[in-house]
Amino acid sequence: MKKRELEFELLPEIEARYSPMYFGEGDVLEEDLRAMLLAAIQAPSAYNEQPWRFYVAKTQQDKEMLMEYMLPGEKEWMVNAPVWILLAGDIGDTHNGLYNYWSSFDAGCAWGFLSLEAQRRGYVTHCIGSFDRIDLRNEFQKNENLEIYGIVAVGRPAPEEITAKEKIPARKSVNAVQLRRK
Ligand SMILES: Cc1cc2nc3c(=O)[nH]c(=O)nc-3n(C[C@H](O)[C@H](O)[C@H](O)COP(=O)(O)O)c2cc1C
Repeated sequence: MKKRELEFELLPEIEARYSPMYFGEGDVLEEDLRAMLLAAIQAPSAYNEQPWRFYVAKTQQDKEMLMEYMLPGEKEWMVNAPVWILLAGDIGDTHNGLYNYWSSFDAGCAWGFLSLEAQRRGYVTHCIGSFDRIDLRNEFQKNENLEIYGIVAVGRPAPEEITAKEKIPARKSVNAVQLRRK
């Protein structure tokens, strides 16, 4: 299996995860999908507010609704993924009624967990952020408490002859991302 060449051995799912543009044959099993969402909601969140919200699109009708808000360029490869999961956050559903500053941070962690559980179960994921998030919000909630963060395509990996041609984007070094005080 294709994986990253890293300085240290990490969780196999971290080493293997990347965002493919191609998907293979095969559906996402209902139980696996539920387990991915279950993994996602095990993420930590500020004050345990659990601001993440998910919308699973599996039918043509649901996908077409999402496509209306997507920018050109993504639909073409996304359509080959059997499941799309819209990831949002509720910035207003808090214990004290104040704005949840950490909603996107927490939802990001949840999607990270989701992607690794997907990987462990033999699936691949690719999140996109190129859609009209303001108009899309109105499909689900009219008020401004819902922030739409991403749409995650989930499917089986493409055959190896295809994935072999895909490049895993490189990362900055650990040193490069370490902050130093002025
Ligand atoms: C919030 C978010 C938005 C993204 N938006 C897009 C997108 O619009 N189109 C796309 O092809 N990839 C998108 N990506 C995928 C990133 O380009 C990808 O994660 C990054 O290049 C690192 O590559 P890797 O995931 O394969 O390691 C997005 C990823 C995230 C987390």
